[in-house]
Amino acid sequence: VTHLVQTTLLNCNLEEHDIDQYKDQVKEIHYQLENSSNMTGWIDYPLQNHDELFKQIQNLKNEICAKADVLVVIGIDGSFLGARAVQDALTPYFGIHKNGIEVIYVGHHMSGAYMKQILTYLSDKEVYINVISKSGGTMEPALAFRVLRQYMEERYGEEAVHRIIVTTDPEKGLLKKTADLAGYRRFEIPPNIGGRYSVLTPVGLFPLAIAGIEIGQFMEGAKKAACELKDPDLANNHAYQYAVMRNKLYNKGYSVELLASFEPSLKKFHEWWMQLFGESEGKERKGLFPTCVTYSTDLHAIGQFIQEGSPILFETLLHFHDIEGDYIVPYDERNEDGLNYLAGRSFNEINATSKQGTALAHAEGGVPVIQLEMAKLDAYHLGYLIYFFMKACAMSAKLLEVNPFDQPGVEAYKKKMLELLNSSQ
Ligand code: PA5
Repeated sequence: VTHLVQTTLLNCNLEEHDIDQYKDQVKEIHYQLENSSNMTGWIDYPLQNHDELFKQIQNLKNEICAKADVLVVIGIDGSFLGARAVQDALTPYFGIHKNGIEVIYVGHHMSGAYMKQILTYLSDKEVYINVISKSGGTMEPALAFRVLRQYMEERYGEEAVHRIIVTTDPEKGLLKKTADLAGYRRFEIPPNIGGRYSVLTPVGLFPLAIAGIEIGQFMEGAKKAACELKDPDLANNHAYQYAVMRNKLYNKGYSVELLASFEPSLKKFHEWWMQLFGESEGKERKGLFPTCVTYSTDLHAIGQFIQEGSPILFETLLHFHDIEGDYIVPYDERNEDGLNYLAGRSFNEINATSKQGTALAHAEGGVPVIQLEMAKLDAYHLGYLIYFFMKACAMSAKLLEVNPFDQPGVEAYKKKMLELLNSSQ
């Protein structure tokens, strides 16, 4: 079998038997997850029929592209990062994707400056809103929606109701209630899929379709992963192998996993990955600390630490072989910069060589390196990769004996903030 995600190890000191010894435990956890109905709805979601949902999204897309210049998406973390990650990875660095319109995000922090500026930015554009919150009561998106709802009502009057789309739980929560009272159109988030596992549901699919991403291809990639990674056998399941490698390195004393890639458009993808693993595993005083870098930029900064600093981290290098768009280094008669030896080679080729060099240098410096490689940076492969990481994450958290699907620690800051806000009234 050729797997879509190819894994190679450098300097990890992991023998086959190190991995093999997890075989039975992995199988047991696999069946536990498969047979559980507790927040595991994402496991088979890509295998189900979503024709109706895709039709609904396409109809809305036709309407929005005809009537708006910009879709404002309101949401935070699990209700924000996935869409933003895939959008950034697959839309042009400058300007807007030819198959979509501009999609911008708010409600993922409480910056007053950002809020003020977004309203100014919208003033000469036609607008639709998609507010996303599974619980329907998260403070950051709720505050942003309060502002933008009033803005839309003042600007569009009765038409505002058609320009606001709600994505929330089918039954519960304040947002569902508001949607019913106002008559907003709704997408439903399956109750048994948690925020950070929800990018393949309307939470991610709808904004991505509007941004011009081929969501059909995206879902096909996820479906392929859902089929392939249903294999309980560690020897065949690359997501489980990645989970086991992480666990093994963690047990050897590495406490930080650094996700690194060489394409700046993947910065938000790194953040999605960080949230997925950080929120799923970091509990009961356990878990790898997930962090990320974008090379070659960060090689000139944190690269020094990685090469020679405290030996606390291992690196997961994410690499796509084929990236759309490239540029050939020109020949220059003057050669004052001494770079003519690179003339005729492409930027992507040089970038890929710097990736190889970095992996070798870091491994030589004592850093264990896991390389994850995919053929192409496109919707299909990203759909696969997202599912791959979710499957690996659930397995990895279970190997640590923590619940991958809750986040009790997030409540602590909220409680303190509310106390402070109430006491300063
Ligand atoms: O993964 C999670 O469950 C969280 O990160 C949530 O997605 C995040 O807190 C947003 O929650 P909600 O969609 O309920 O507003």
